[in-house]
Amino acid sequence: MTTPAVPAPAPDVVLEAERRSVGRSFSQSCATPTGPLLAVLAAAVRPGGRVLELGTGVGVGTAWIVAGLAGRDDVEVVTVELDEELADLVRGTDLPVTVLHGDAVALLPGLGAFDLVFADALGGKWTGLDLTIAAVAPGGVLVVDDMDLARYHSPEDRAAVTAVRETLLGHPDLVSAELAAGTGHILSTRRPA
Ligand SMILES: C[S@@+](CC[C@H](N)C(=O)[O-])C[C@H]1O[C@@H](n2cnc3c(N)ncnc32)[C@H](O)[C@@H]1O
Repeated sequence: MTTPAVPAPAPDVVLEAERRSVGRSFSQSCATPTGPLLAVLAAAVRPGGRVLELGTGVGVGTAWIVAGLAGRDDVEVVTVELDEELADLVRGTDLPVTVLHGDAVALLPGLGAFDLVFADALGGKWTGLDLTIAAVAPGGVLVVDDMDLARYHSPEDRAAVTAVRETLLGHPDLVSAELAAGTGHILSTRRPA
């Protein structure tokens, strides 16, 4: 007989971010298993590496990334948010990250390459996915969230998600896997050059 797993308590920095979600009635923050997955992947980022989040929200995903880095100051974390108020909110926290206000699609070409990219905004995922893929360094990992087709009802939305899925799974430079947990994810690694 197996014992049901007891989820580990979320780190304090995440609990604080979740309180911001509740305080603002912000319902789009990432949940389990996305958050812990981000922490796991952030912990594996090479010394001197870089992490990018597209769509900061109130900083819950950002907080999981920071928790995974566990105080390391050799990794740069950049997060991009279209909503100025949200960007300012997260900028006002103690999270050791750079919060950029703007459209991910407009900013991506100037951001450089990253070892871990969390694509969690429509910009950079439904539009500009090629720019997001280009921002993944060789050997880097891309996490694309909200890929469960059952979440979408309009033909347009279903077509957009299907196109993202097909691009990621069929991309010659990526090795991709679908992770049908939570809101649905596709994880991709860019093959080393
Ligand atoms: C799903 S929420 C992000 C949740 C956050 N990543 C987390 O893990 O808690 C999506 C966010 O993307 C932002 N957003 C939407 N379009 C965007 C764009 N084109 N560029 C940057 N951010 C965008 C929204 O304002 C929203 O805050």
